[in-house]
Amino acid sequence: MSQLAIYRKYRPATFEDLLGQEMVVKVLKGAAKSERLAHAYLLAGPRGTGKTTTARLIAKIANCEKRALDAKFREKGEPCNECGACRSIDDGSSLDVVEIDAASNRGIDEIRNLKESVRVAPTTNRYKVFIVDEAHMLTKDAWNALLKTLEEPPQYVIIVLATTEIEKVPPTIGSRTQKFFFKRASRDEIASKLKKIAAAEDIKIGSEALDLIASSAEGSFRDAESLLDQLVTFGDKTISLQEVEETIGKVGFDKLSAFAGHLLRRESGEALKSLTEIADGGFNLAAFTKDLIEYLRRVAVLKTSPEMRAAFSSELMEEHLNKIIDHAKLFEPKHLDLLKGLIAAYGQMRYSQFPIIPLEVAIAENAQ
Ligand SMILES: Nc1ncnc2c1ncn2[C@@H]1O[C@H](COP(=O)(O)OP(=O)(O)O)[C@@H](O)[C@H]1O
Ligand SMILES: [Mg+2]
Ligand SMILES: [Zn+2]
Repeated sequence: MSQLAIYRKYRPATFEDLLGQEMVVKVLKGAAKSERLAHAYLLAGPRGTGKTTTARLIAKIANCEKRALDAKFREKGEPCNECGACRSIDDGSSLDVVEIDAASNRGIDEIRNLKESVRVAPTTNRYKVFIVDEAHMLTKDAWNALLKTLEEPPQYVIIVLATTEIEKVPPTIGSRTQKFFFKRASRDEIASKLKKIAAAEDIKIGSEALDLIASSAEGSFRDAESLLDQLVTFGDKTISLQEVEETIGKVGFDKLSAFAGHLLRRESGEALKSLTEIADGGFNLAAFTKDLIEYLRRVAVLKTSPEMRAAFSSELMEEHLNKIIDHAKLFEPKHLDLLKGLIAAYGQMRYSQFPIIPLEVAIAENAQ
């Protein structure tokens, strides 16, 4: 690696490959099969969940030459990814697919020219597609220019707006678009995609390390893939759990779970000792405390409602979940004070010069 960043190389080329966005996929594939594309779309949701990818898929569906010629193929509701139109959209050279980054100065100029640009028919393709990324950054003038176009879009125009902040999109614009809401990806979905990438790229990495990358990405495929890329560029193609822990400043599940075990068994000496090691290892203590709270919260929930297992199973690896269920047996009502103590410590330590102290206090209180 990495002439081509992982996240670019593994960008889904079909709706089938777009993970975790079932609703979006279902509706758009349906529209593609029946050739009923809308003139304006609004794709909203957290970063790294597939908005730009989907915008390009829409552009490919609109202009794919194989779809235009082959009725049977069209029924798949997917682009061919091989024809000139598909390829030019993938490599960004299509003259009829204009990507505008609303957050950049150039983007503002491009929006200003939108009204004129929309009037010019596509050169070689059937549709002219305007993809406006980071649409929430548009100025009032730009929204007005866009509104004019949305009110009377020429037959050959499709506008796709993508944003992480849908509340900043004026209702007059929103109401003229077909909207899709992208979900944060689950840890499992991210981990399983990373696993496939690792296999394809010959990267040696264990499931603990993959899981830690997935959980640190907080629902963003892109963040997870960029982190994997970064870890590979460091050196060889073998990535250890420790490397991941050091890179993201977070401890992995095993350390976290062992620590929680000490707390649940009231082994304060052990807990304080591991805490010092974690602090000395340069880990982010606030992040550690947050993970610990999340862990104990799951322990508490599973103690009172074992049926919540099903709900957690999409968020956690099987063995991790089993470990937490094990710990639930140790959980007693008085441990709720521990949980409260940790939550209080978390609130204090983020503003403290000595973030370890609130945590030590919580551990000491738990000992009594
Ligand atoms: N739903 C998804 N399924 C699979 N991979 C995804 C998905 N969403 C994002 N990715 C990965 O993350 C990268 C960035 O996705 P992108 O569509 O640009 O995200 P967004 O525009 O929502 O920030 C993609 O190239 C792809 O590798
Ligand atoms: Mg994007
Ligand atoms: Zn094609």
